[in-house]
Amino acid sequence: MLDVTKIRKDFPMLNGKMMQGKPLIYFDNAATTFKPQTVIDAVTKYYTEQTANVHRGDYDLSYQISEGYESAREAVARFINAQPREIVFTSGASAALNLVAYGWGQKFLKPGDVVLSTEAEHASNILPWFKATEVTGAIFEYIPLAEDGELTLDNFKAAMHSKVKVVTLANITNVLGYVAPIKEMAKIAHEYGAIIVVDGAQGVPHIATDVEDWDCDFLAFSAHKLCGPTGVGALYGKYELLQQMDPFMLGGGSNARFDICGNILLKNPPYKFEAGTPAIEAVLGFKAAIDYISAIGMENITAYEHHLRDYLMSQIRDMDHITIYNPQAATGIITFNVKDIFAQDAASYINSQGIAVRAGNHCAKILMDMLETSETIRASLYFYNTKEEIDHFVQVIREITLEKCVDLFF
Ligand code: ALA
Repeated sequence: MLDVTKIRKDFPMLNGKMMQGKPLIYFDNAATTFKPQTVIDAVTKYYTEQTANVHRGDYDLSYQISEGYESAREAVARFINAQPREIVFTSGASAALNLVAYGWGQKFLKPGDVVLSTEAEHASNILPWFKATEVTGAIFEYIPLAEDGELTLDNFKAAMHSKVKVVTLANITNVLGYVAPIKEMAKIAHEYGAIIVVDGAQGVPHIATDVEDWDCDFLAFSAHKLCGPTGVGALYGKYELLQQMDPFMLGGGSNARFDICGNILLKNPPYKFEAGTPAIEAVLGFKAAIDYISAIGMENITAYEHHLRDYLMSQIRDMDHITIYNPQAATGIITFNVKDIFAQDAASYINSQGIAVRAGNHCAKILMDMLETSETIRASLYFYNTKEEIDHFVQVIREITLEKCVDLFF
């Protein structure tokens, strides 16, 4: 079991921060996570001691920071069991997914080809593919979900056919927190000649990720959901696919040569996708976050989150005034509503008690139709949360009433 008391000391946001005059309880970790001091230090060190551009200067500072930047790429690669040349730094998971949909999808999809996904996806993994199908004449299809919103392998098998060229989905969904069987799906997708794209924004920070074992073709994720800085993330791609696809942006750093006639010779991946000065300090913070998480151990993080989740679920499962949408999910995401109270009003009341949760459609607008609700409340846990925080949350949920929510506004 983790030493959470010790871990919490590493996070400035967990030491004395108040909200609504009460000690802050942060249960919105699926939106973003707090940063340990080592990440903050890595970011500020760049500005105070290491400032120079990467891959562009013939002087010590620039060499040193270029090495630091590339060692971050190595750390990211190790973290998901990839090769450094298969890691493209992007501004986050959304940019990474857009890059695949544009650079691979818009280049290779043909009229009548099919992109297969689910109704539970985040906008960042649907909208770029809507665009790719619109531009190419390909078709977007959905794998039917089980009644509880879970993706089953049987449903996936039934939805697969020879026209499917891309399967794209989250390995952990951001609203229901279900874990998709990516390894089995990748095998099936490949048997049909399709590629599989994984939105790992909610998965990579919470469970061990091994792209070689899964044999997925692309994986996108953000640093800020795994204790790293905002504004940086990564796209993993199999190298031959990265070679084939087009960059989304062109500019300095991504080309080897260009001439007056407009001929451009791009660098090899990953550099051909990294035009312009990158978010250097954020990349260094990304590495610090990975070092921090790795020192705790992903297996420990996953096990502790399951423990917390079971503890929370066991206490709210039988409350008559609560509807839980994902009672079976094996992750730290709990999505629910309080009967007869609009989700955002309930979240405002929960906020008044010092607890941060997210309410709304969580950027998964299609899923809300399936759940037959316009909004839900989502509590999302991470390894620095505690049973004591859950006790307080449960007490607040037990005592919430429509009158208390209304009182907030008058
Ligand atoms: N994608 C993030 C979430 O689900 C912001 O909250």
